Amino acid sequence: MRISYLECTRCGEHLSADRPQNICPKDGGVLYVRYDLASRKEKLRREDLSGRGASMWRYAGVLPDARPVTLGEGFTPMLPSREYPNVYIKDEGLNPTGSFKARGMSAAVTMARQYGLKKLTAPSAGNAGGALAAYAAAADIEAYIFMPKDVPMANRMECDYYGAHVTLVDGLISDCGRMVAERKDKEGWFDVSTLKEPFRVEGKKTMGYEVAEQLGWNLPQGIIYPTGGGVGMIGMWKAFDEMEELGWIGRERPKMITVQAAGCAPIVSALEAGKSTSEMWVGAQTFAAGLRVPKAYGDYLILDILKKSRGTAVEASDEEILAAMRHWASMEGVFAAPEGAASLVAYRKLRTSGFFRADDKVVLFNTGSAYKYLDMIEAQEKKAPPEPPRTRSIGGIIGPF
Ligand SMILES: Cc1ncc(COP(=O)(O)O)c(C=O)c1O
Ligand SMILES: [Zn+2]
Repeated sequence: MRISYLECTRCGEHLSADRPQNICPKDGGVLYVRYDLASRKEKLRREDLSGRGASMWRYAGVLPDARPVTLGEGFTPMLPSREYPNVYIKDEGLNPTGSFKARGMSAAVTMARQYGLKKLTAPSAGNAGGALAAYAAAADIEAYIFMPKDVPMANRMECDYYGAHVTLVDGLISDCGRMVAERKDKEGWFDVSTLKEPFRVEGKKTMGYEVAEQLGWNLPQGIIYPTGGGVGMIGMWKAFDEMEELGWIGRERPKMITVQAAGCAPIVSALEAGKSTSEMWVGAQTFAAGLRVPKAYGDYLILDILKKSRGTAVEASDEEILAAMRHWASMEGVFAAPEGAASLVAYRKLRTSGFFRADDKVVLFNTGSAYKYLDMIEAQEKKAPPEPPRTRSIGGIIGPF
């Protein structure tokens, strides 16, 4: 669809989408893409989706007009849980490059090609870098990626094979972000950092459209999303508002739940303190690499969504995450990324606390594939070996069963 304008999420300023834009020049606010949905309401009908291709571009009607750079991303399975009757696992691990980051990068690189950009840059906790590298390769665009030197091996290797220019940094994603900011103008790179250009949100909003479509246009009572930079959550919330404007859904909204690693939980802390922005987390540490984001650029948007949706934020320790990975793999057949398995930890905690009831429909996002983390998983197993099989006593016989 034709873009009407880009809108600043802080001051409401309108900017043109005729040229590439990053953030609001006045206040650094995140820019959202706005369309004239009301005037297209009659033409854009949800019934017309049936028969469309099984990728996120089936929602091209609510995405910018451009020839997609696509590797088949999106329309991932919505798996009913075997363990909990009203729980669904949205398995983003099946995306190209093995994570939901493919959606955002497919949209961002599509628009970069449309604008004629030749060099893109981004800091990455790992998977965003891999996705950028792949889509840049598919669009014949150069990618300059800055990643912490201890990202999963798969991320380093995929970026290399996709032909990206990779800088490994002795620090966190926030340090990588600083390096990008320092060098991009001099080098002529366009910055596609999380929430510093408007189209990664557009790609990720398709997860919101899919949740609705795959559940028969009825939104669940809750969505649990592993949150680092927060784009997944922000994108889905935008999708719900758009779908309501199009008349595809009503006013109902799921409770949006952020799950973060206990070793890096700035949003959990901010929510507990009743703040509308977060503090930089000091000493961030977790093997869930995508959650090692000490301060999210869009923290004010995430916290606003948690509040508006009457959701909450939960933390999961690395030990809990590792145990949940084993559990999901053996119970559901889903070998989830650590970030994704954190959703299961959060769900259990929210059931125990009574926040969710057994009959609440809840979608747990597995945001990536464990296959990208094999080295990290092995290291984590060595650090904190899983508990030995629990012994039970049956009729006086003790033993593992
Ligand atoms: C597998 C995985 N899950 C979740 C996240 C966090 O995503 P977001 O930054 O959109 O909150 C990341 C980010 O790198 C990731 O790679
Ligand atoms: Zn602004």
